[in-house]
Amino acid sequence: MDYNTLLFEMRGKVALITLNRPEALNALSPELTAELTDLLDQLETDDNVAVVVLTGSEKAFAAGADIKAMKDWSYMDVYKADFITATWERISRFRKPTIAAVNGYALGGGCELAMMCDFIIASETARFGQPEITIGTIPGAGGTQRLARFIGKAKAMDMILTGRMMDAQEAERSGLVSRVLPSAELVEGTLKVAEQIARLSSPIAMMAKEAVDRAFETTLSEGIRFERRLFHSTFATRDQKEGMSAFSEKRKPQFNND
Ligand code: CAA
Repeated sequence: MDYNTLLFEMRGKVALITLNRPEALNALSPELTAELTDLLDQLETDDNVAVVVLTGSEKAFAAGADIKAMKDWSYMDVYKADFITATWERISRFRKPTIAAVNGYALGGGCELAMMCDFIIASETARFGQPEITIGTIPGAGGTQRLARFIGKAKAMDMILTGRMMDAQEAERSGLVSRVLPSAELVEGTLKVAEQIARLSSPIAMMAKEAVDRAFETTLSEGIRFERRLFHSTFATRDQKEGMSAFSEKRKPQFNND
């Protein structure tokens, strides 16, 4: 799989995708988002892939949508192309666990792309922001919605109305990122977390992810009902039998993903 704007490698059952447009701080060009969509389509159906880690460079996870590509587009250009929805949101529909490993800038669409992953691990140098207002537009890939849900209205309004950046410590305090690692350890450390998930049952991890995601889409009582149905359905899997038997027999489980 050769791409112009992405690097890709498998580490066991973990797919490591690196955004690779260093000349533009990984700005999310139409080519990059199309390639990312194509790659995710393939990884979704590949049984050898359990978890995806998405990262960028040391300087930037991604500095946003490609401003130079967008600047002359008309309303009809973006409306007809359904700009953003058509390609960008593929990772938010990806059914297996996804982790964003963020070094440096995650701005605009870069921050939105990171938030489409299941969770974000940041390095000490990470800087998050939705600076669209400073270039005469607003977040268009879910930023106003996901940021408000993840860090609350006060911080989301502050960031989206001023365009200011948030450092890794503030992002962790605010609940935007789950862990902060030293910059040099970010990718390997995130891969270790991903490998930990990849050793578990893949379909059960998918169900757990689906249940948590439902919390952002529905009422508490409907969410709990949805969770209960998925919880019950885990009892139809061999991996539930194996996991609970292994615990009872004081041995490590051998999950077979079925
Ligand atoms: N689009 C296109 N090119 C970009 C870019 C972007 N979003 N961000 C950076 N670049 C390019 C720069 O133009 C520059 O290219 P040249 O060398 O050819 O001039 C190169 O990347 C390096 O950038 P800088 O020289 O600006 O690097 P810096 O270290 O001085 O500053 C920065 C870094 C603060 C991230 C700055 O580049 C910046 O502010 N970038 C734009 C951030 C932004 O506004 N993002 C939101 C985009 S809109 C959006 O994302 C909409 C949406 O919701 C989907």
